[in-house]
Amino acid sequence: MSGAGEPTGREHWASRRAFILAAIGSAIGLGNIWRFPYICYEYGGGAFLLAFVVALFTAGIPLLILEFGIGHSTEGTAPKAMRKIHPKLEWFGWAATGVGFVICTYYAVIMSYCANYAWHSLTLAWGSDPSAFFYNDVIGLTTVRADSVATAAADSLRAIGAQVPAELVAKPWSLGPFMPWLFVGLAISWVWIVLSIWKGTKTVGKVVYVTVLVPWAILIIFVVRGVTLPGAGEGLHFYLHPVFGELLKPGVWLAAYTQVFFSLSVGFGIMIAYSSFLPRKSDIVKNAFLIGIGDALTAFLGGLAVFGALGYKAHLSGLPVEDVVQSGPGLTFITYPDIINNLPMPHLFGILFFLMLLTLAIDSAFSLVEAVAAAARDKWGWSHRRANLTVASIALLLGVPLIFGVGLHWLDIVDRFMNQVGLSLVVFGECLLIGYYFKSERMRNYVNNLSDFSVGKWWNVCIMVITPVAILCLLGAEIVARFKEPYGDAGLRSQEFVFGWLIVILVFVGGLLLARTRGRKESQSVGSAGVDRGA
Ligand code: PHE
Repeated sequence: MSGAGEPTGREHWASRRAFILAAIGSAIGLGNIWRFPYICYEYGGGAFLLAFVVALFTAGIPLLILEFGIGHSTEGTAPKAMRKIHPKLEWFGWAATGVGFVICTYYAVIMSYCANYAWHSLTLAWGSDPSAFFYNDVIGLTTVRADSVATAAADSLRAIGAQVPAELVAKPWSLGPFMPWLFVGLAISWVWIVLSIWKGTKTVGKVVYVTVLVPWAILIIFVVRGVTLPGAGEGLHFYLHPVFGELLKPGVWLAAYTQVFFSLSVGFGIMIAYSSFLPRKSDIVKNAFLIGIGDALTAFLGGLAVFGALGYKAHLSGLPVEDVVQSGPGLTFITYPDIINNLPMPHLFGILFFLMLLTLAIDSAFSLVEAVAAAARDKWGWSHRRANLTVASIALLLGVPLIFGVGLHWLDIVDRFMNQVGLSLVVFGECLLIGYYFKSERMRNYVNNLSDFSVGKWWNVCIMVITPVAILCLLGAEIVARFKEPYGDAGLRSQEFVFGWLIVILVFVGGLLLARTRGRKESQSVGSAGVDRGA
């Protein structure tokens, strides 16, 4: 490994650029295209951008600096890093890694959707009704719709004290049809993920030149295409028109902080793992700013492409823009195919669009897997091959239930719980741990010693006060909302609520169990010295 010469012999990134691209690649994902533009529109357009920038500088970038500091100083993935900070805290590092692991099981499923659509672009297989195509032919969700109807029916029968027929009770738990093409896409995605991290940083460092630069190039094409379409101006007006009054609403700020956390991939052990492979002399502060700002700009551009196209769709259909806006899977697999149908050279734009999504998603996916695999290597001394194949096979198997008809529904629930509850708990813990136990001033000095320009004392305030308070509000608001109002369109049924919490609890219990397993000698003997790596 290129780390030869370092006393620890840990593998290192081939260059600073490779590290930055890998971290940016992890941060830039579907969130930039299918989440950011919509949230921005929904929460006050241009005014939301202001809240977003504030969140980026008071929580996002400070957290990146924090995670880079943890990984670099301990030369460890999350579990090892936590153990070095305090021997009793290894479980917490595993919990962070576990949240990432759960996410990678379904992230690969979304990649499979994209791979299927890249294939369908060749023939524009979605035809004139992309919605029916998506639900019936691609994911087989039609049964789920029947299921929610069945549940609603069962609920109303129960409400009036009537007997509920057995088929109505059984239905919510049916898996729906197995979708073989989703399985093919899933298998391809996993092969691609494993190959991308085959020799750890050595492979990742090369792959990211393609998987980060290609989607950027394609995104530029879509921005130019998007903003020059007829009606684009109207769409962009919706996206960016500032409604400053919105800034007075706490919900807007919560949305901004949530989006920043999700988008920067903090809280999953990824940035800790990636920075543990940095060479000794690494400018952490500058890297964090570059990555944070790069991710935000990509999201902003994503919005231009999406809203330009939505304006066009409104123009074509004669509907107001607010009637055609969508986010999430609906935007990507229904609205966009419909827009693509109406572009000149639709096959080309179809392939480019889904290739962009695939290449956007792949580096997020393999960053999650690498964080888990590297943790296994740190703990048990496994080879790359063994770690990659073990993690990938388990994750592939866990993803299989999600490629049945009901898959998207459960995927959505797991996604919600992992990104809101799991991520919040991990980031909250990190802030308290470094802020109050380890002392953020000590970490600040550590990163400043490495960096060309220093972070001021404001950083301590961000880590000790602003971020934890933001998270407490976020969790509080989420819990209140979940108890007060139903979940999504279908209503969060109690078993789904229980299922979501069960996964969160499982991740943390799993963390405790993994921390108790015997590691290899070298990693077990690591003391609790905390930051033991001089700048
Ligand atoms: N940051 C990614 C995005 O914006 C999502 C992601 C979350 C990636 C968690 C890895 C881990 O889409």
